[in-house]
Amino acid sequence: MGNKNISSRFRRLRQNQPLRDMVCETQLYPKDFIYPLFVIEGDDIIESVESMPGVYRYSVDNLDGILSEVNESGISGVLVFGVPAHKDSRGTEAYNKDGIVQKAISHIKSKYPDMIVIADICLCEYTDHGHCGLVCRDEILNDETLPLLAKMAVTTVQAGADIVAPSDMMDGDVAAIRRELDKNGFINTPIMGYSAKYSSAYYSPFRDAAGSAPGFGDRKSYQMDCRNVKEGLREIENDIAQGADIVMVKPALAYLDIVRAASDRFDYPLAVYNVSGEYSMVKAAAINGWIDERKVVTENLTAMKRAGAKIIITYHALDMAKWLKEEF
Ligand code: PBG
Ligand code: ZN
Repeated sequence: MGNKNISSRFRRLRQNQPLRDMVCETQLYPKDFIYPLFVIEGDDIIESVESMPGVYRYSVDNLDGILSEVNESGISGVLVFGVPAHKDSRGTEAYNKDGIVQKAISHIKSKYPDMIVIADICLCEYTDHGHCGLVCRDEILNDETLPLLAKMAVTTVQAGADIVAPSDMMDGDVAAIRRELDKNGFINTPIMGYSAKYSSAYYSPFRDAAGSAPGFGDRKSYQMDCRNVKEGLREIENDIAQGADIVMVKPALAYLDIVRAASDRFDYPLAVYNVSGEYSMVKAAAINGWIDERKVVTENLTAMKRAGAKIIITYHALDMAKWLKEEF
């Protein structure tokens, strides 16, 4: 006999997997994901990134294996970062038309014309001081940096990039890039702004991978303060006003409240970046046998989508795509 005092039996729809699947509100697909790819100057290099198990830096001549994996996986594409042989104060290699990231992009597009290739636009991998903009004394210059970012955007699009993604957090970067792309005839190239990018300790494994740690100080004068929500929404609103086609919140896991607020407020495709430190923490625990990697990654990525993310940039992309295929 049922207890008449229980009016809602939520457990009816939780009885078995088919029922749970039928009513589930969030479903991940391989196409939700973008895989970050580190390309290094040189020949015959595949080197592991110590602080990011399972992540490698590839020279262009060694990209084919990982590209074919990406192609088979059903994910949407790659976000390309260059690791140059030569760095200087002005980040010259970032906007050299024969630079590492430009060469990598044209190689990828020649092999896989349908793969979405996103170029990360920033100077920090290319400057000897490791900051995302030009430096004068101890100051990170804003307006003087904009033309260099715009130049980098144009050269990566000339190399074949489908989308450019400025991650520098200089004010006015999206507008400067939009103007320069349009001037060069690339009116149809979308911009994905790293709009609400927070100054975060979760980036440190990436800085190992890309060799882009700041040589002095930190990035707090340009990246956001983690205590702020409204400011993040203002950043996103402003990127949209400058012409961004896709907006982003970064990092992901510790910032899902920002993702939810942004998704409620703005009718633009929203991306999240599940950053290096978030990845490495999961990998470390998994390697130690403390957690079930597949289950934890599935839960984390589902949380990002549930919070409102449309596009998920993650180092787990290839694993997750594989796991999803096993399910279907
Ligand atoms: C470069 C850039 C960074 C990341 C993406 N683009 C590092 C930084 O801002 O220091 C971080 C990605 C990650 O941690 O996975 N501006
Ligand atoms: Zn940077």
